[in-house]
Amino acid sequence: MPYVVCEPCINCKYTDCVEVCPVDAFYEGPNFLAIHPDECIDCNACVPVCPTEAIYPDDEVPEEWQHYIEWNRYLAEQWKAQGFNITQKKEPLPEAEAWRNRPKSEKDILTWDVSEAS
Ligand code: SF4
Ligand code: F3S
Repeated sequence: MPYVVCEPCINCKYTDCVEVCPVDAFYEGPNFLAIHPDECIDCNACVPVCPTEAIYPDDEVPEEWQHYIEWNRYLAEQWKAQGFNITQKKEPLPEAEAWRNRPKSEKDILTWDVSEAS
């Protein structure tokens, strides 16, 4: 029953969650974080610290965000392969407050440019 980062994180990335994770299961993209489902130990520590209430256990993910379960696996694996494990809190994105209650979707999720890395 791994935990899942859902839509409210997009364009906010407050990163309070990463500091409390005992197993460093968070991976970072440009404007979203993903939890690696094989690393999460279901401790629940990240849920109450997220200012946007973006994190849910996978069996409690709201209906409209069910696809984030697969997105977390897909993105965490991709970002892990690129070395983007995140374990320390940093400044939220500059527009975080403005985006907090705005409508957004998985189409807004950015990823790193792999062509630059190779
Ligand atoms: Fe980390 Fe616990 Fe959150 Fe899983 S539930 S991502 S182990 S803080
Ligand atoms: Fe995102 Fe919330 Fe963590 S906004 S970075 S899931 S604290």
